[in-house]
Amino acid sequence: DWTTESFIDEKIREIRETVGDHHVVLGLSGGVDSSVAAALLHKAIGDQLTCIFVDNGLLRAGEFEQVQTTFRDGFHIDLRAVDASELFLSRLADVADPEEKRKIIGAAFIDVFTEETHKLEEELGHRPKFLAQGTLYPDVIESVSFKGPSATIKSHHNVGGLPEKLGFELLEPFRELFKDEVREVGTELGVPDAIIRRHPFPGPGLAVRILGPITRADADLLRQADTIWLDELETSGTYDDVWQAFAVLLPVKSVGVMGDYRTYEQAVCLRAVTSTDGMTADWAKLPYEVLGRASNRIINEVRGINRVAYDVSSKPPATIEWE
Ligand code: XMP
Repeated sequence: DWTTESFIDEKIREIRETVGDHHVVLGLSGGVDSSVAAALLHKAIGDQLTCIFVDNGLLRAGEFEQVQTTFRDGFHIDLRAVDASELFLSRLADVADPEEKRKIIGAAFIDVFTEETHKLEEELGHRPKFLAQGTLYPDVIESVSFKGPSATIKSHHNVGGLPEKLGFELLEPFRELFKDEVREVGTELGVPDAIIRRHPFPGPGLAVRILGPITRADADLLRQADTIWLDELETSGTYDDVWQAFAVLLPVKSVGVMGDYRTYEQAVCLRAVTSTDGMTADWAKLPYEVLGRASNRIINEVRGINRVAYDVSSKPPATIEWE
């Protein structure tokens, strides 16, 4: 008989037994799965857990600070927050191909993670033995069968790569759970609502939402538009009705008019989709007023953007992300 409380109790017992007096590292992304995993692990083994959170320069506005406030100040977790934005963005300079971007970001993440665990090893005087991950049941299925359209079309994801390369043993307490169940576990453990409700966010972050080569300036521009879009969804009470919502920065300029001046600036496309698992998705039929307000605000408040479009493509044949 599954209850959230009994699951937590049992997992805590299991984790303590497995870990003993060894040390565990966890790559925190700020998403639901890794956040709840961090909370559970911390409850089970306290300061035998170290979380590593990497700023790849492609996070959303305020995310780097938010995650630190939540986990370091709120949970008192040993959190190493690394600003590696320069490394990621310099390796990505001039790269336009989506899969190439993913490869570079994956490799850079492993480099930064490795360096941080080496530092930790020196501090501890011994090697951390375990790597904890918030892998869910659907991740396990998708990576085993490779049947998912996403898995075959876009190289993913949360599973694999890291543990083998770094020689860790894996701890995956949520391997049998679905996202809803992880959300319940997180709520029970006191993970803030803002994190529990958060839409999925891809590992490569804004890199796959800036079409073509990435610059820091473009990432900043996109962050501003993205913040307004999400803010309008929150204000209108529609955030929880959609699976994912985000803005995409298009590599085109178009003509506009602002007061007495002609403008020639970039365009963003807003995307919002409904879905149950991300494998198929429908574009969200949001009220025109919500779209209109977001568009007005973005054009008025974000210098450098003078046109906003809304993506009305479903998956398939489109994918959720544009890259
Ligand atoms: P697509 O764009 O393939 O996305 O319809 C399906 C879901 O997967 C997310 N996604 C990714 N997640 N690394 C990730 O961690 C990636 O490279 C990646 N690409 C897509 C996407 O945001 C959606 O939730």
